[in-house]
Amino acid sequence: MSWAVVLGLLAALLLLLLLTRRRTRRPGEPPLDLGSIPWLGHALEFGKDAAGFLTRMKEKHGDIFTVLVGGRHITVLLDPHSYDAVVWEPRSRLDFHAYAVFLMERIFDVQLPHYNPGDEKSKMKPTLLHKELQALTDAMYTNLRTVLLGDTMEAGSGWHEMGLLEFSYSFLLRAGYLTQYGVEAPPHTQESQAQDRIHSADVFHTFRQLDLLLPKLARGSLSAGDKDQAGKVKGRLWKLLSPARLATRAHRSKWLESYLLHLEEMGVSEELQARALVLQLWATQGNMGPAAFWLLLFLLKNPEALAAVRGELETVLLGAEQPISQMTTLPQKVLDSMPVLDSVLSESLRLTAAPFITREVVADLALPMADGREFSLRRGDRLLLFPFLSPQKDPEIYTDPEIFKYNRFLNPDGSEKKDFYKDGKRLKNYSLPWGAGHNQCLGKGYAINSIKQFVFLVLMQFDLELTTPDVDIPEFDLSRK
Ligand code: HEM
Repeated sequence: MSWAVVLGLLAALLLLLLLTRRRTRRPGEPPLDLGSIPWLGHALEFGKDAAGFLTRMKEKHGDIFTVLVGGRHITVLLDPHSYDAVVWEPRSRLDFHAYAVFLMERIFDVQLPHYNPGDEKSKMKPTLLHKELQALTDAMYTNLRTVLLGDTMEAGSGWHEMGLLEFSYSFLLRAGYLTQYGVEAPPHTQESQAQDRIHSADVFHTFRQLDLLLPKLARGSLSAGDKDQAGKVKGRLWKLLSPARLATRAHRSKWLESYLLHLEEMGVSEELQARALVLQLWATQGNMGPAAFWLLLFLLKNPEALAAVRGELETVLLGAEQPISQMTTLPQKVLDSMPVLDSVLSESLRLTAAPFITREVVADLALPMADGREFSLRRGDRLLLFPFLSPQKDPEIYTDPEIFKYNRFLNPDGSEKKDFYKDGKRLKNYSLPWGAGHNQCLGKGYAINSIKQFVFLVLMQFDLELTTPDVDIPEFDLSRK
């Protein structure tokens, strides 16, 4: 190595050390852990196994601490009794959208002019609730039947073999896409439904190629080959979801109509609209399939749970006015009377839903903890809640927290169990797969209805078996988060 290179490296190292003047903990702030690598801090451990790293930090520092991760100071809060203070804090102090906007640009190349998340949210919210929720639920049932029953009928009778994740993800995403982005032509004819199946399968397979690259895209760690692939797949999706193509679709949801209008009002070009529509496909359809996969897997691994759910769904069928082959909807009243399936869904989300609930600290503020302590947070830092560790995997709240218990969220009388305790105090936030507070998931009702309809159709219309029933349940993939 030449002297020039050695000197260059030394200069770069010196610059790095100067740039990363070590922060010190001020009175009133949470414990500070900067790790041993300047600027990077704990980035490597955090990126490799966030749950394991945060568990170790919790053992070392308690339920609130600040860590350095890739140049950012992140305060991690793991006391579920104190989560409300964060999720209900006004946006002017703790902001949800800054990080979402960053991901939007980095992953989906979407930079909207005059973007106002509050305005967008107030326009989109009514399209996912109340009357519109019923319309979405009904359309979803029709579209689930189109793709699920149509595909299997085309494949002929007898057993078919397919990966369970592919099965759950593809059918839910395809039906969800048809529900929100519209179908081929009204009325539903056999030809138009066959077209819907082909087109939605194309959308799913293209989307899935991008989906598999998302963790690397979010971290900015794509190889040259990956970048090439991501560029091609995005280009194809932008074409599939271009406003011109969508203009020809029928039964488009209120959600799509409002979103397109909102983009037009902002003066967004057609090209950028297509990008935003791909982003929305991921935001609205990216979680339902994986959630349904875990639910079905836990059921297939737990015969007692499967029998209990089947029993409940058969009772629903007995009470229905028509046989299942003629049922065109599953009304909300019926969907709301499935406590065993509700408990199974809550339990599988408890074990697998691991969103990082992240907020930017917009102003210096004092964070009150439920036990009376108070901590100062600095403007410019990030605040992170990780409910997956606590409450969801906390042994004080859930006995044998790693084990799937289908009736964990059921009382002995069959009603929903809502009382869970930590430190002798009842918890308000005992599981947070949908987030909580101001930014709780807007699609929660639609997602729950869709997953339940999917499970209903799968269990009542098919025989489902694992080809290798003795293989262990796979590790949960936290890199998707
Ligand atoms: C199993 C499926 C789903 C899960 C587990 C899920 C989870 C979440 C979580 C955890 C958040 C809150 C993030 C935070 O507070 O930091 C969130 C927000 C959101 N979700 Fe979902 N979601 C699902 C499906 C859907 C669907 C189907 C839609 C729409 C059709 C949707 C629309 C939204 C929107 C718009 C927000 C942002 C709310 C805001 O801006 O305040 N989600 N979701």
